[in-house]
Amino acid sequence: MSKTDSTASRFLLGIESSCDETAAAVLEAPLQVRSSVVASQIKAHQPYGGVVPELAAREHVNAFPPVLAAAVAEAGIEWTDLDGIAVTQGPGLSSSLLSGLSVGWGLATRLGIPLYPVHHLEAHMLSLFFSVPNTFSACPALVLLVTGGHTALLRMVAPGDYELLGRSIDDAAGEALDKGARLLGLEYPGGPEIEKLAMQGTESDLVFPKGLPSGEEAVKRGGECAFSFSGLKTALRYALEGNPDLDRAMVAAAYQQAVMGTLVKRVEQALNAFSDWSCVACVGGVAKNAFLREQLQSVSKAKAVPLVTVPIEYCTDNAAMIAAVPLLRKIEALRAPPAADPNLQLAGMRLR
Ligand code: KG4
Ligand code: ZN
Repeated sequence: MSKTDSTASRFLLGIESSCDETAAAVLEAPLQVRSSVVASQIKAHQPYGGVVPELAAREHVNAFPPVLAAAVAEAGIEWTDLDGIAVTQGPGLSSSLLSGLSVGWGLATRLGIPLYPVHHLEAHMLSLFFSVPNTFSACPALVLLVTGGHTALLRMVAPGDYELLGRSIDDAAGEALDKGARLLGLEYPGGPEIEKLAMQGTESDLVFPKGLPSGEEAVKRGGECAFSFSGLKTALRYALEGNPDLDRAMVAAAYQQAVMGTLVKRVEQALNAFSDWSCVACVGGVAKNAFLREQLQSVSKAKAVPLVTVPIEYCTDNAAMIAAVPLLRKIEALRAPPAADPNLQLAGMRLR
């Protein structure tokens, strides 16, 4: 087997730095996580209410040496045991991506091992295999991908073979939660804050629009199962401006209900569109949300398609999912120092 064939690797180091998490992990073939270290920058960005790109890049540079050393030490291996390195190439913040790519290229060159470029969203998708023992038994999988920057529904025929069923034509679900939280006076990241506050919220008559796209144009741009969340955030602003005395917990519950209700409705629609699903999976940071998991559980039960939930620690950004990609499908190693690609397209993706 060639040294550039990722499927020949036994120990793979994963590196992730697309946004505000600096992460490194060691995986052993076929898919055992030997270590997974994540240094979060949340505290550094919180005063600004969101991620500041230049600050993120600086934090990555400082965090990489200890994070990488911890990943290798916790895996119980030596640097020289590594067979390859997988690194996020995009999408993400250019300067953040570049810090991980530079570290990856330097290490791979020094160790004389291949460097595999990974698509961040594909890594989120393939994180579902941390919960299922056999790749083929889980496919075709209906994957709801919900992160801070992207929202999409995909049909995964096999790792590397994806059909896009629908995506958001404006804001992502995580972005709607983050922006909504800011309007509610909550901290960044907003998803977990809204979830916490919503738990204290009582039933109310307050109903936010479900944000479904109207008109053929929107559907054409986003696919048959298109999402739209930007109107929702505006509705929240008007509700708060119109009635400053509204109970915040009740508002948070209604807002969360609207975001998750939209996601679940689309999942139901996609489940109905095909008859051969092996599972339905929810991946990405928003998949941590207990309310969403509950709603998906009841749809999965009603449709008799098993729900796969990713372990909580692999929902938000991590490097274990990055190292998983070259272990699950063949990836060509880079031959030259890599360029960051903030808008990287996903290989093997077809639009339905
Ligand atoms: O996948 P991720 O870590 O980063 C991206 O690739 O974007 O996702 C981050 C997103 C943020 O929008 C954050 O608010 C959301 O995941 N999130 C949650 C929860 N935990 C994180 N949303 C809802 N409920 C949660 N418990
Ligand atoms: Zn992510």
